[in-house]
Amino acid sequence: MLLIRDINRLKKMIKRAKNKEKKIGLVPTMGFLHEGHLSLVRLALRKSDVLVVSIFVNPMQFAPSEDFRQYPRDLNRDMRQLRDEGVDLIFYPDTKRMYPPDYATAIEVQGLDQVLCGMSRPHHFRGVTAVVLKLFNIVNPDIAVFGKKDYQQAVIIKRMVKDLNLGVEIVLGKIIREKDGLALSSRNIYLSQKQRIDAVVLYESLQWIQRAFKNGLRDRKKALTKIRGMIRHRGGQIDYVEAVNKETLKPVRRLNKGTLIALAVNFGRTRLIDNTILR
Ligand code: PAJ
Repeated sequence: MLLIRDINRLKKMIKRAKNKEKKIGLVPTMGFLHEGHLSLVRLALRKSDVLVVSIFVNPMQFAPSEDFRQYPRDLNRDMRQLRDEGVDLIFYPDTKRMYPPDYATAIEVQGLDQVLCGMSRPHHFRGVTAVVLKLFNIVNPDIAVFGKKDYQQAVIIKRMVKDLNLGVEIVLGKIIREKDGLALSSRNIYLSQKQRIDAVVLYESLQWIQRAFKNGLRDRKKALTKIRGMIRHRGGQIDYVEAVNKETLKPVRRLNKGTLIALAVNFGRTRLIDNTILR
């Protein structure tokens, strides 16, 4: 397994692999890997000949008030985990090389990047699209794997790929959860013991709406009001709880099969997101 920091060195290696008709896979991450990330790695390993996992805490997607500096990092642990999975290449770029002082480009996916998480994090997704496009240009992957945990992110990246004819196949992996249902996240380590227990309400509320939908509930307002109540009761401060079309991310009038229920909730200073698609 190789840890590569230099952009040009990686480009050259990829070029050689491409000349040998190898299928290149990419899993972009910000490190501090958990089973959620590793599930994407396993999926990508099955679908590619040469896999690059990138580890880069991308400053451009954090607002000045957000947790860029405190974001958890543990490169040695990440490397051990990726080695155990049989990953060939880790790309661990240098922030100054990714963003030289004169860096100026952002990519907006209009209509998708200012809703849901984009409301409270208005610059977040342009940081995500910029870094993902940079990674695509550096790695030139045939496929790239993202998690449904960040559903809006996945929708935005898919649209960017389509709009800009990037020709990368985007594969989505399912949400990996703790035994009690809490979606795995690098940020879960910030939660106090009590918050960790209370945070399970996010999964419980998504389970509830799936059941209620199965039993005939279609009224959006009724459903969202009930979920908001459940979350507040457990001390969560709601950023949003929404029912939207899973492609356009526009609010739906009535719940339907395929409606995306997405939420972002703060427990103390820790912001958690989760979602489900009604079935
Ligand atoms: P990060 O939060 O490290 O997540 C990397 C990938 O892992 C994303 O595609 C995310 O959706 C997926 N993931 C996280 N938790 C998951 C879980 N519990 N189950 C399944 N997949 C999960 O998302 C980012 O980094 C960044 O925005 C990035 C795309 C790397 C750009 O900087």
